[in-house]
Amino acid sequence: MKIIVTENYDRSCEIAAKMIADVIRAKPDARLGLATGGTAEAVYTYLIKEYKEGNLDFSKVSTVNLDEYVGLSPDHPQSYRYYMDNKLFNHVNIDKKNTYVVSGIGDIEKNVAEFQRKLQEKPIDIQLLGIGVNGHIGFNEPNSVLKEKTHVEELDESTIRANSRFFRNIDEVPRKAITMGIGDIMRAKCLVLVATGKAKAQAIRSLVIGDEIYCRNPSTMIKLHQNATVIIDNELAELVGYKKD
Ligand code: F6R
Repeated sequence: MKIIVTENYDRSCEIAAKMIADVIRAKPDARLGLATGGTAEAVYTYLIKEYKEGNLDFSKVSTVNLDEYVGLSPDHPQSYRYYMDNKLFNHVNIDKKNTYVVSGIGDIEKNVAEFQRKLQEKPIDIQLLGIGVNGHIGFNEPNSVLKEKTHVEELDESTIRANSRFFRNIDEVPRKAITMGIGDIMRAKCLVLVATGKAKAQAIRSLVIGDEIYCRNPSTMIKLHQNATVIIDNELAELVGYKKD
């Protein structure tokens, strides 16, 4: 696992966006695995900038997102479909038919099966990841066991609290989500995880220091990946005591 320390969050996102852009330039019909949340936003800003400057073509690109809240329709402003449309897809020349965010409404079991089929169609060339305050990736929450495949996950109290900042109040935060499993994430050819902020210190510490893998910090699984990059800023590196060796 490669660890990059940058001067600030903005630079971290620029590097992550460049990694994604390089994959698209090398393989115009690449399949991207995408994440939502606050951290990923600036990555999309950079990708849009590259597109607007004529340096990137999304016309053949396909995407699949990590997760979606159960109970939010695609047009709900806090749904991850809505996020993706507004933060990336509406601003680049991607064909929306080639974008996939699992639906969080209707027959959930059927949606999970459809998601699993989608993932089998074509491998993900690069997967963008954020990290939860509790170390979750996608919505794979800390537990005594982790799930390999796409499934419905009961959200952790700490996740509900952290994500309540996007809702009017905490009671509006969905309690469940459909998420790629750990295996689905690990099957991506390349992983890039971006983290920033004090709240992520505990989760990042056991990811970037030591070689332990903990079910109580699902992000540590990516230490096993052949081509994973973690990008943190100086502030977070100092906070967790990470030093380049
Ligand atoms: C979002 C996702 C989550 C977020 C994580 C960090 O699709 O899968 O794992 O990446 O919760 O969210 P932020 O960036 O809002 O702190």
